[in-house]
Order: sequence, then structure tokens, then C-alpha cells
Amino acid sequence: MSASVKELVSKMTLEEKAMLVVGAGKARRVPGAAGETRGIERLGIPSIVTADGPQGVRIEGDGKPYPATAFPSAIVLASTWNPEVVEKVGKAMGEEAKEYGVDILLAPGMNIHRNPLCGRIFEYYSEDPILTGEIASAFVKGVQSQGVGACLKHFAANNQETNRRLVDTIVSERALREIYLRGFEIAVKKAKPWAVMSAYNKLNGKYCSENEWLLTKVLREGWGFDGLVMTDWGAGENPVEQMKAGNDLLMPGNDDQVKAIIEAVKKGELSEEVLDRNVENILKVIVKTLAFKGYKYSNKPDLEAHAKVAYEAAAEGIVLLKNKDSTLPLGKETKIAVFGTGQIETLRGGLGSGWTHPKYTVSILEGFKEKGLKVDSELAEKYEKYVEEMRSREEYKPKRPGVPLPPPPQDFLSEEEVEKYAERNDVAVVVVSRLSGEGWDLKPVKGGFYLSDDEKSLLEKVSKAFHKYGKKIVVILNIGLPIEVASWRDLVDAILLIWQPGQEVGRVAADALIGLINPSGKLPTTFPRDYEDVPSWSFPGEPPDNPVKVVYYEDIYVGYRYYDTFGVEPAYPFGHGLSYTEFEYSDLRVEVSADSIKVKFKVKNVGKYPGKEVAQVYVSPPRGEIPKPLQELKGFHKTRLLQPGEAEEIEVEIPLRLLASYSCGKWLVEAGKYEVRVGASSRDIRLRTEFTLEKSLSYEP
Ligand code: GLC
Repeated sequence: MSASVKELVSKMTLEEKAMLVVGAGKARRVPGAAGETRGIERLGIPSIVTADGPQGVRIEGDGKPYPATAFPSAIVLASTWNPEVVEKVGKAMGEEAKEYGVDILLAPGMNIHRNPLCGRIFEYYSEDPILTGEIASAFVKGVQSQGVGACLKHFAANNQETNRRLVDTIVSERALREIYLRGFEIAVKKAKPWAVMSAYNKLNGKYCSENEWLLTKVLREGWGFDGLVMTDWGAGENPVEQMKAGNDLLMPGNDDQVKAIIEAVKKGELSEEVLDRNVENILKVIVKTLAFKGYKYSNKPDLEAHAKVAYEAAAEGIVLLKNKDSTLPLGKETKIAVFGTGQIETLRGGLGSGWTHPKYTVSILEGFKEKGLKVDSELAEKYEKYVEEMRSREEYKPKRPGVPLPPPPQDFLSEEEVEKYAERNDVAVVVVSRLSGEGWDLKPVKGGFYLSDDEKSLLEKVSKAFHKYGKKIVVILNIGLPIEVASWRDLVDAILLIWQPGQEVGRVAADALIGLINPSGKLPTTFPRDYEDVPSWSFPGEPPDNPVKVVYYEDIYVGYRYYDTFGVEPAYPFGHGLSYTEFEYSDLRVEVSADSIKVKFKVKNVGKYPGKEVAQVYVSPPRGEIPKPLQELKGFHKTRLLQPGEAEEIEVEIPLRLLASYSCGKWLVEAGKYEVRVGASSRDIRLRTEFTLEKSLSYEP
């Protein structure tokens, strides 16, 4: 397109403009992708293809899925606390999108974990906006380095699946700015995403896709976003309101929306200048796309190379929650009895639009065998037969091929059988699975947030039998969101949280068990002791059986901001994660300048294993006029692999603006004494120091 975008718009008819702002209904050029815009041949404007999702490229076309790498889910990427590794995942995913002819990848999903029951927590990063923003920025940079657009979603405050298309989220501007919008703001400013997807829900009374305050005042005027805004699929109600609000593109799009827009312009209900503005926003993205550049994609992405990227990210994202008396790592010759059907039906990710179609998924049992672990083969066969038999029964039969189901009953072995395996093996490994996905939230019941009776009785049975012989039990959590652990963790000696780490899951689990991987992940979200402790008790809204409104009464006190401020003990705190080695923190000093503070300190590996540490920097503000959380994460740094005895000098710079609270339309940094707390988790603070701000600072939003 030689002419400038504005000139081009001036040549377009009203019909062509209306066609450009409404998707083509479904993808044609790449059948099975999530959606496609309409091209305008006369003017050399190509259609552009959009595809999901945050775990990998999902194209279910021609009746067969296009094989694409199943990368670790978003919560695993956040658990790495390693933007470098996340950027590599973004790059690999961008390459796969590119080679399949996709112009915009509908990722990252980055809504805040307001409540642990949300069905899409696996697909989002964290309860903290700074970690969310940094991980999202790295991912976006990776994807867009390949010439493929990334799309931040779902903007904004889409923190539940229950009635997501209509529920009205009522939340204060302060909580929006400090918590729910903050991650998006960081990513927009740091990574310049080509697109943002507005969310299904209403925000303070107006659909996000029809909300001018959100899409124009905050996103564009406030943050300088210059990409395109698209709706979620079928979101909102009124296409004219969506146009006016600054939602440039309606997806997947239908002809009624085209007609409505044309009519509204003709009747003077929608000014053509507004329509032109939206058209320009879309064209400015189109001219950057591979479609516009006529890229000849191969349909052959380098899946082999990307499998290694998926493995590395998964390895960095698993979290060692418990390791009593250094139960782990196991020796290679350790005889292992593996319990739990999740060893066979291992979950690589969560369900919904973000589902994936890799060439393979290495189950935990396959991974153990491939790595030569001494697995009790008789027990393994017993589990294989049990799974086969159960899945042949009507009640447990898969409804759609390739889409996993909740696990069948877990406690089918007798005490005598378990006793037999305890006697002839050295260690028990119990896999606990929890399936979650788009479109539904979990419940605070057994089999949801809590273990089911049969999961619990299996653990009790295995614990009793193996402890009787002085042998250890390791639990592997193959879950997409936090579950209750406090009531049963004393039954076991070690807990390895692998989340749902993509297609290489079995290999990663095996390597972590025997120490080829030294876990270096940290929790991006709190594991509460009990659901009763969760501050977002209004979830998923009112009336409970069919919520139409959800009020965020807890305001800014989300996750550790609540637990730490109000003295509620979590099961495992935000930022928690053990290692097979130990780290020592020292030499903390802070330098204050006009617009930032530099936090400097040292981390040393004082243990026996090479390992990486995620050092976290929290700031506890003065108790001034504005109520604030006890502490907030303001920076972090993951070390390189430190050999035993090796140390790393670390410097974390924190802009003073990041210390601000949002109050009465401004960002305020109050004068007073600030405490800097450097730690291995939000509750394992190793170093402290203070600095004083003589005068308060204020910033425009
Ligand atoms: C879905 C999801 C969104 C996805 C889109 C296209 O409803 O909410 O995340 O990208 O539709 O599949």
C-alpha cells in the first residue's frame, strides 16, 4: 500500500470501511484458525488471520489439527520469573504462527488471579501486576520479533468464567489502576503489542468492548497504545457503541454488524470520523503483517527446535513446594512405585480456546521410563489397565477425542496391594491432577479446590504403608491452579508442583525428580490454607446461582496484599519455591536518586547443587494518608546458574513512580520512611533496609 493510511481511508467507500472493522466470521485462508478480517482487493488490503493461544498455536482446520508445540501454560511461564526464557517461548510461538500463516497470535492471556477457582488461571500469569506485566512484556517481545502481532487479553477485569459474557464487574478505580490494569499498562509501554482484546464482561456498568473510558481514555490517551483493539469472540451487544468506544474490530464478525454500522453512519448516529479512526488503527497494523508483506509461509514450523524451548521453560517453571529431609532428588537407581492415573493421563495444559495439538505429549510414566527410572512395572501395568478399563465405561468415556476428562476414582488399590508395593520399592510417587479450562470455574468442594475423598484416601493409604517401612512419599501436582494442600501435606515428604508444563511434561518431571533439573520456579500466586481465607469471597458474584454482578469488595487487597496485610497465614506464600541447594543473601544497599531507587545485594550458592535463585524485592511504604498493603513486589531478578560457592552481584532499579498509590485521580508517592525487603519469597525476607523520601511526589495517570 503506497499511499499513506489516511489517503487510503479517503479512497474507501462507507461499505468498505464497515467491512474492514468487522471480521469475516471465520478464517478462510487458514481454515481452523480463530478468525480473519475481510480484505479489500481493490485497494490491496489483505485479510489478516488471528489464531489462539497462550499455550501454543491452535489451528483445527480441514478436520485435522495442524501440529504445533504445546508450550508450558502461562502460569508456568510466570513461575519461571525469568523474562529471558519467556521471551524465547514467545519467539518460538511466533515462529510457529508465522509458518502457519497467522498474522496475530491471540496471546498473552494476562488477567489477575483474583480467586483460585477461576477456570482460566492456568492461562494467566499471577496475582501480582508487576510480575504479570514483566512476563507479558517478555512474551510479546518474543512473538513480535517474528513479525507476528501479539494481543493482550482480556482487557479488563475478566477474572472469572462464570457468566463471563454478561457479568458486571464493579471495581474501584484505584483497584483497577493498581491491580487489574497495571500489568496491561506495563506491557503496552514496554512491549508495544499490536493488539489488545477487550473482555466479555461489563466494567462498572458498561461492556468492556463498549467502554470508552477503558479503551480510549485509559488505553490510548493514557498509555499511548497505538495498535488495534478487537472484541473477544461475540462480545458485547451494540456494534455502534463498540465503534464509538474505540473497539476498532468486531470479531469473529457477522454481516448484521456491517449493516448496523453502515446504517448508523447514514442516520448520523455514528460519525464517519470515528469510523475512519478505527479503520486507520486497523490499517496501521495490517501494513505491518506478514500477509501484507506477502510472506510465503511453509506450513512446516521447526517443532523439533521448539520442543527444546518448551522443555527449558518448563524446567524453569516447576516449583518445589516441600522437600522434607532432602527427600529429593532421588538417586537414579531408586525403585519407584508410581500411583495416580495422572501418570498416564498427564495434563500438558488447560482446556478451551487455548487448547493445543502437539505431535505428542510425554506422560509422566513415559518420561520416567524414557529416562531409565526404576519404575515398578507391575504397578504401572495395573494403572494402564485401570485407565483403559475406566475410559471404556460410558460414564468416563471421552466425549471429544483428544480432550481430557477429570480423573476417574483414584483409590482402587487395596491396602494389601499398596503394602506389597511399599515393601518392594524405595519411594512412592503420587500424581495428583486437576483439570480446568475456559468457560467454567471450579468450586470450593471436594474434587475442586479440595482433594476428593478417593484422592485423599489414596494418599493416606500410600503414606501409611510407605512410612511403615520408613520410606518416603513424593507428590507431583499436575494442576492448572492452586488447590488445598494444608490438610494433607504432612502425609507426604516432598511436593513437586509441575503445573501443566506442556508436551515435554513427563521428561521434565523425571529430570526434576532425579536432579537433572534443580527446581528454580517460585509461586506467582498464593496457595491459601483454606478457601475460607480467600479475600475475594464475592466470587463469582450475585445472585450466587446466576451472577449478573460481581463486586470486588476486597479492592486492592488481592493475594499476598491481603494475606500479608491482615495477618492470614497461607499454605504456601506468593514467591515461595525451594531448591536442591541453598542461597545466602548479603550486602544490601539502596541508592536513592531523583526518579528511582537502586537496590543492590549479593546472592551466593552455599549448597551442594548448581542452581538459580529468584530474588524478590518488596517495599513496605510509610503508613501515610492512603491505606496501603503491608508490602508489594516492586522488582525481582533471577540469577544465572550459580555453581556451589558462586555468587552474583544483583542490582534492581525501581522507578519511584512504581511506589505510588492511586488516589483521587493521581499517582501519589507519600513522603516518609520506606522499608526495602529482599527475600526468597514474600514471607522469607532475608535482608532489610530503609530509605526516607523527604517530600511526596505526584504523577498524572
Ligand atoms: C474465546 C476466548 C479468547 C479467544 C477467542 C478466540 O472466547 O475468550 O481468549 O482468543 O475466544 O478463540
